[in-house]
Amino acid sequence: MRSPKDFFKPLAIGAPEPVREIPFRPSRMIHFFDPSNAKMAAKVGDLAKKCDVLLGNLEDAIAADKKIEAREGLVKVARDTDFGSCQLWTRVNSLDSPWVLDDLVRLVTEIGDRLDVIMIPKVEGAQDIHYVDRLVAQLEARAKLERPILLHAILETATGVANVEEICAASPRMQGLSLGPADLAASRRMKTTRVGGGHPGYLVRADPDPADEKAPRTTAQQDLWHYTLARMVDACNANGILPYYGPFGDIADTLACEDQFRNAFLLGCVGAWSLHPVQVDIARKVFSPPAAEVLWAKKVIAAMGDGTGAVMIDGKMQDDATFKQCQVMVDLARRLAAGDPELTAAYGF
Ligand code: GLV
Ligand code: MG
Repeated sequence: MRSPKDFFKPLAIGAPEPVREIPFRPSRMIHFFDPSNAKMAAKVGDLAKKCDVLLGNLEDAIAADKKIEAREGLVKVARDTDFGSCQLWTRVNSLDSPWVLDDLVRLVTEIGDRLDVIMIPKVEGAQDIHYVDRLVAQLEARAKLERPILLHAILETATGVANVEEICAASPRMQGLSLGPADLAASRRMKTTRVGGGHPGYLVRADPDPADEKAPRTTAQQDLWHYTLARMVDACNANGILPYYGPFGDIADTLACEDQFRNAFLLGCVGAWSLHPVQVDIARKVFSPPAAEVLWAKKVIAAMGDGTGAVMIDGKMQDDATFKQCQVMVDLARRLAAGDPELTAAYGF
């Protein structure tokens, strides 16, 4: 454990100063692309115009014989593309794989000035972040980078969930966490073969009707991911970093995708992964606060003056706490609306 006094010192001579706050940039959708696929890589410039984050994926879904092609493809895409205000992230291979060392060495030294965040899969504890933290600092120094690259961990092992707080607190580089429901399901030995979303078998059932034992009994499907997502949101917020829902694998089921994303938004997540262009628009819609909520929140803030005391608005009690809730909504709306004329108009800024 580093002394609090040393926490913000660079981990290598010549590496940039760590950030004290995670800078806010819209990240409603982290859109994955396969940099080994030349056709997909050619579309990155256009996608950058509509995505908050584009992520060059090097890990799962990239076949073993395409790993080097993907890494080199990402170097080329990063150099040749104008990303505008879109962030460029990558997901490197897992720390126990034969590829991750070269992923980090090559990407940080070749395109470190273009990479905003490196996503680390299958993080199990603070020790994994410490390893990457020091290595990235050494590489940043070698590449003479002026701004630190941030780290994002995927919460996708049972051990990682057990250690989620220490993962979030492991380094000032920690930008956020994503839920990885597929690997997490496997790690926990959950009996679902789906990638995120609900499961019709995970339900509760009403008691039998004593007057009619055979009468149908109402059931309500429960959320398999609620516990983990809620725990992740708390751990992230307690450490000033950002929580994200991960992938939703049923691309054709846009309605259930929207539901899953909205649950995550309501619970405190700032974005989700998108695995197909159709999910980009869903994420943009869901992770931008609804205009009606923002207008309501502005009304409460205006009525509450200095934010203390209590007032009634449209029959609803407002006090210091609801003032803060409304500030969360308006603050997010304001940040997302900056540079977005459509949202600016919708929110009345
Ligand atoms: C994502 O990486 C997942 O395993 O769900
Ligand atoms: Mg995974």
